[in-house]
Amino acid sequence: MALLDSLPKHVRVVEVGPRDGLQNEKAQIPTAAKIRFIDLLSAAGFGTVEATSFVSPKAIPQLADASEVMAGITRRTGVSYPVLVPNQKGMERALAAGAQSIAVFTAASETFTRHNINATIAESLEHFRPVIEMARGAGVPVRGYISTVFGCPYEGAVSPAKVLEVAERLLGLGVDNLSLGDTVGVATPNQVVEVVTLLAGRVPLEKLGLHFHDTRGTALTNVLTGLQLGVTTFDSSAGGLGGCPYAPGAAGNLATEDLLYMLHGLGIETGIDLGKVVEATSFLASLLGHAPTSKYWQAATANG
Ligand code: COA
Ligand code: ZN
Repeated sequence: MALLDSLPKHVRVVEVGPRDGLQNEKAQIPTAAKIRFIDLLSAAGFGTVEATSFVSPKAIPQLADASEVMAGITRRTGVSYPVLVPNQKGMERALAAGAQSIAVFTAASETFTRHNINATIAESLEHFRPVIEMARGAGVPVRGYISTVFGCPYEGAVSPAKVLEVAERLLGLGVDNLSLGDTVGVATPNQVVEVVTLLAGRVPLEKLGLHFHDTRGTALTNVLTGLQLGVTTFDSSAGGLGGCPYAPGAAGNLATEDLLYMLHGLGIETGIDLGKVVEATSFLASLLGHAPTSKYWQAATANG
């Protein structure tokens, strides 16, 4: 099994269901249910549960209750609950709600950035400058998301050189780590090799996370490729919830259950209890109006 001998022994799984997942669910989920969902997830052993977004409620009505969600969750010691922040106004709201970890987000494609946050990539980075300064002042760590790393719903192919440029600018602004997003779910393993290898020459590997959507069924194989390259942080959402409001047709995030099943099968430790993630998804399932897409969840909850 030499092919798999050098995989990392421990992986950090970042649960993004309450944010990336819920933001694209059509049914309005009650605030109390979001709070319970987050608490069930933190009880499952995640070190990071991305809780919500302090974006414009007009852009993402589902997450308009961000402050109430932050006020209602039970914060477990050792768990961080990052929130998305697009600008200074969002940062003020996030700090007022007691956020202790944030994420800023831009993309490697101009057209997507325009649709998503009504700015050019350069403008988006300028908006982050005061946000990151405020974060520094408050001792709040900052993650930088780059969307459309492997392809754009409007522009098609995205150049790895552009990804590197945006990554370096984010790190130059002071973000602590990066998440490379396959927002549309188009990546294939060769692209993962190309992008990660290019960035690994300039960015410490421990600062790189990979964020796959499973639109075309390639998310898990892309994770395996990332593992083989030494990446140790992966984002996923319980049940496979989600998508992206500005990426038409994008399916949900890689499902956390499916990711954990593969990681644990490979002997990689995550510290997360897969059965408890299934329970968290099951709790939310009846409120979604559709079945969760996670294959593992479907198998685990099938009758007979
Ligand atoms: N929280 C709450 N309200 C906000 C806000 C924030 N972070 N940022 C802006 N607003 C409000 C403004 O106060 C203003 O309100 P008004 O119309 O009542 O005066 C309105 O939104 C427009 O503000 P403006 O600064 O002109 O923003 P915009 O219209 O150019 O939108 C963003 C820019 C970034 C705020 C918006 O596109 C957004 O929130 N996008 C998030 C998209 C997202 O979350 N995508 C998924 C994640 S990948
Ligand atoms: Zn995503």
